[in-house]
Amino acid sequence: MKIGLFYGSDTGNTQEVAEKIVEIIGEENIDLYCIGEVENSDLENHNFLILGTSTWYDGELQSEWEDFFINLDDIDFTNKTVALFGLGDQYTYGEYFVDGIGILYDKIIEKGARVVGQWPIDDYDFDESIAERNGEFVGLAIDEDNESEKTDARINTWLQQISQDFGFKY
Ligand SMILES: Cc1cc2nc3c(=O)[nH]c(=O)nc-3n(C[C@H](O)[C@H](O)[C@H](O)COP(=O)(O)O)c2cc1C
Repeated sequence: MKIGLFYGSDTGNTQEVAEKIVEIIGEENIDLYCIGEVENSDLENHNFLILGTSTWYDGELQSEWEDFFINLDDIDFTNKTVALFGLGDQYTYGEYFVDGIGILYDKIIEKGARVVGQWPIDDYDFDESIAERNGEFVGLAIDEDNESEKTDARINTWLQQISQDFGFKY
């Protein structure tokens, strides 16, 4: 079964990361959706999900994710394996760095998801993040504003990390 990748992006950064992920995993293995244009059934039809969001306005979800968020209450995530990634700016928004990942995490955990793809915090310089749990991020953190040169390596390492759980060849 194909992986479903759902992203929300205000200025295109999260979309670009989503498209890179599709390129690496291969279009034949993954369906790409903008979260502003989906029905609940689009998520329900995938047992392997990658969810990507940026963070805006001091710790808020990206706008289309914010609109869709209430729908997550109606989706059963038991039997779903989910990996999260998020875009943020660790220097300007160091007290809210990639909070969006943490907001999605709490909701899908409540709905029964199995979340994989935790990511080390060591390579970042931030003060606080609700995406940090027990000393690691609950998903991949990308900072296109300050460290775009690290993005490709971060994506590749993370995809390699989740490939076994997701059953794709890396
Ligand atoms: C007004 C504004 C508010 C932002 N707030 C946050 C924030 O609270 N936390 C964070 O990590 N990044 C924050 N950012 C940075 C964005 O998340 C970052 O630029 C991201 O790459 C945007 O991705 P997108 O184009 O996919 O929406 C903010 C950026 C702007 C312009």
